[in-house]
Amino acid sequence: MIFSLKQSNLTIPACNSNIPNHRTHSPAKSFVSPPFSTPNFNKLSLASTSKPLHVSSIQTFGSLRGLECDDRIVCKAYEADRSDGEFVVEKIEAGKRAKIGFYFATWWFLNVIFNIYNKKVLNAFPYPWLTSTLSLAAGSAIMLISWATKVAEAPNTDLEFWKSLFPVALAHTIGHVAATVSMSKVAVSFTHIIKSGEPAFSVLVSRFILGETFPMSVYLSLLPIIGGCGLAALTELNFNMTGFMGAMISNLAFVFRNIFSKRGMKGKSVSGMNYYACLSLLSLLILTPFAIAVEGPKVWAAGWQNAVAEIGPHFIWWVAAQSIFYHLYNQVSYMSLDEISPLTFSIGNTMKRISVIVSSIIIFHTPVQPINALGAAIAVFGTFLYSQVPSCFYFNSF
Ligand code: 3PG
Repeated sequence: MIFSLKQSNLTIPACNSNIPNHRTHSPAKSFVSPPFSTPNFNKLSLASTSKPLHVSSIQTFGSLRGLECDDRIVCKAYEADRSDGEFVVEKIEAGKRAKIGFYFATWWFLNVIFNIYNKKVLNAFPYPWLTSTLSLAAGSAIMLISWATKVAEAPNTDLEFWKSLFPVALAHTIGHVAATVSMSKVAVSFTHIIKSGEPAFSVLVSRFILGETFPMSVYLSLLPIIGGCGLAALTELNFNMTGFMGAMISNLAFVFRNIFSKRGMKGKSVSGMNYYACLSLLSLLILTPFAIAVEGPKVWAAGWQNAVAEIGPHFIWWVAAQSIFYHLYNQVSYMSLDEISPLTFSIGNTMKRISVIVSSIIIFHTPVQPINALGAAIAVFGTFLYSQVPSCFYFNSF
């Protein structure tokens, strides 16, 4: 009697079921948080199923009646060297890797374009409160039109959803404005070097405000982050306190954004794209009155005239580009959270900062001293080390 139990059908859901879902883990960008609560089931399940277990035979010895001692069933199992199941798994994994690679490349590319146009606009039109508002307005308009025309399915939300989104949107607004104010005062590369210190804020807030504890390796990874950022700040040729503080406030705000979003969105079923769309809408409502109060239409009108006189009528396309690319890169980053773990996201975000720092230095001819570059490299390396701390240490985070 021969039974052969192939597991190829089982391997597919085993892999897919482990794709982290931001709706249950964290809906928002979580790169500032310690890599939380995401046991690597993916690897575990692959380890157990990548070589399908075949039960080669189930043999009965003796009669089933009468012989008590010899009556037994022996199952012989072996690992198949290669099987259909294994190829299917490999194909799925390769497809997943290609998809993640595509998301990352798109995210970084869009982010670099945003940063370049944002800085070009701010150089000619130094009103970060308005440009921040326009970025959110562009995203909101794009998504409202997409929902109205059924290009994208509108999310099914209730009052509870919007209530839980409010603190997230508030923190997102503060972080966004603060980063833009920073970029209006200092080089894009400097803002992003300081922003690479975000994990340090995450750990410090978690430790001293939420009472979380972390393994020593996490605290040690903060040393190069803090030391590198400090060295880069001290040796920055065009240091400006408002620019520095803007990036620091942005770091702090984004830590709280991630904490609130993790708490507020547990169990909700809004896709990454729609979650970010709702976040943009609410942030726009929060920001608009403040932008009017801080800068205001009179200042904007005069500034606009100057910018157009200096750059030309195509200045409006720069503003459009910075606004649209801001929404697009954020949307792709939130969509990628549907496909990847927060840990992978964290690494992707660190790599993104490197591409922004390098490309902005080249494009804007930012003067960089060797010691300044060394500080930036140490900080980014520290962020990378931090993201390598095994996620199993964070099961109870937040
Ligand atoms: C913003 O304007 O919101 C910040 O530049 C965001 O930066 P990040 O997405 O690179 O953290």
